[in-house]
Amino acid sequence: MVPNKKMEALLNKQMNAEFYNSHLYQAMAGWFEGQNLPGFASWMEIQAGEERGHAMKFYNHLKERRGAILVGAVPAAPVKYKGALDAIQAAFDHEVHVSQEINKMMETALAEKDFAAVEMLRWFVTEQVEEEANVDAILQQLKMVGESKGSLMYIDRHVGKRKAA
Ligand code: FEO
Repeated sequence: MVPNKKMEALLNKQMNAEFYNSHLYQAMAGWFEGQNLPGFASWMEIQAGEERGHAMKFYNHLKERRGAILVGAVPAAPVKYKGALDAIQAAFDHEVHVSQEINKMMETALAEKDFAAVEMLRWFVTEQVEEEANVDAILQQLKMVGESKGSLMYIDRHVGKRKAA
């Protein structure tokens, strides 16, 4: 069933937001490369790929339901941070924001009785718990080690082990 205009607009909005998320993490990857922290850069690059996958879930949902697919311009993402902690804090804050947007969309999907969208969004509700937890785990480690360069390099090696899903 074709989504109604309200849901179609929201699905497109979140699709574009997820394309931005991919752009944001790719920009963070670039920043970490410049800091000589290749492990963090690799983690961010994998995350950028995952975010593109999120965007494509919305894209394919719209495609299968014959909704309009409106891929828009991607805004510029920040390219400078004060340090690793600042960048990871920004990533965590952003994921909390994404969770709030997904939750708001779920509320609308329920109100509009768009059960196809509700089912699709359930996946995102679960995914956002994981997304926040993954970044938070790194954030807590960075907070623990403070300014220690040796510990930062150790965390870099550790996060660099992340494999693409
Ligand atoms: Fe697709 Fe990390 O939000």
